[in-house]
Amino acid sequence: MDKKVLVTGGCGYIGSHTVVDLIENGFEVVVADNLSRSNPVVFEGIEAITGRKVENFAGDLAEPAVVSAIFEKHPDIAGIIHFAAYKMVGESVLEPYMYYRNNLNSLLNLLEACKQFGLQNFVFSSSCSVYGNADALPVNENAPIKDAESPYAHTKQIGEQIIEQCNAAYDLNYMLLRYFNPAGAHPSALIGELPIDRPQNLVPYITKTATGELEQLSIFGNDYPTEDGTCIRDYIHVMDIAAAHTAALKTMLTKPSSEWSRVYNLGAGEGKSVLEAVQTFEKINGIKLNYRFAERRAGDVIAIYGDNKKAREELNWELKYSFEDILKSAYDWEVALKEKNQ
Ligand code: UFG
Repeated sequence: MDKKVLVTGGCGYIGSHTVVDLIENGFEVVVADNLSRSNPVVFEGIEAITGRKVENFAGDLAEPAVVSAIFEKHPDIAGIIHFAAYKMVGESVLEPYMYYRNNLNSLLNLLEACKQFGLQNFVFSSSCSVYGNADALPVNENAPIKDAESPYAHTKQIGEQIIEQCNAAYDLNYMLLRYFNPAGAHPSALIGELPIDRPQNLVPYITKTATGELEQLSIFGNDYPTEDGTCIRDYIHVMDIAAAHTAALKTMLTKPSSEWSRVYNLGAGEGKSVLEAVQTFEKINGIKLNYRFAERRAGDVIAIYGDNKKAREELNWELKYSFEDILKSAYDWEVALKEKNQ
């Protein structure tokens, strides 16, 4: 498929894996990433895997002129995947204005420019956090949108609504993809998750504890009403998430919107506890992890996992990677990173 796609946040974690998958599926990719939360070394990994140098616009999408410059140079963009956003739940609670300003201004500028330049096919990086504390599990796309648990989650809820309103106003063709817990790395270990600071998420914390970069993993809470007392999440391989974006774009570009839905859950469809993640990691990589049980973390929901049936059926997408693959590839990446940095 010889079409041009703009990937905002293409140097980030999910963005970079998606760029690789798009290129491998014949798309031409242009990236817009201001590198405020990502490392340009990721472009070397993308090039090593695909053999392609990707053009990056490094300006801030919260500036309208930056967005216009991209579309003026590339008026033939056939689709946009908008990843660029801040994503740390805890930080968003401490600095809410930063999240609203960054996440919403960039979205508004892109949408306004889409109208101005007559561009269509907008894929929005959303999150299962839009469901808040879901009443029933697995949560499906029709579940009510509850109060957001954080400003971050609220920016995703508002973002979804703004896009729906643009569709109502001028027929913007769009899809909203709600991720559960993406983890793991490209099987080559040439790209993977690269937190700019101390990681907040479970899997990178586990892998950095395993390599000795961090001393000890704290498991936040072991007195929850779950089988082993720890929280339950739906971990999905970042390669499967990436492939879902390619599948989403292909669907939008080739099928009338009457044949697909606007909103899709992207999860593995299975809940795993924090303790299960730790124990599976130890088993699959033959490592003993230094961990302890700690206090609950504020804002954590007890359990969430998603129904991914709609995405599988309508996007011609299937999961290719297991929970074990996630934990193995994440560790391989961490080891490769450590060796490279030594
Ligand atoms: N956890 C620990 N120790 C750690 C880190 C995490 O025990 O050092 C636990 C958490 O308490 C939670 C589970 O591991 O129970 C998963 O936590 P993550 O931080 O990895 O993921 P979250 O489910 O909190 O958040 C993720 C994304 C968000 C997204 C959210 C949607 O990071 O961007 O899923 O639920 F919004």
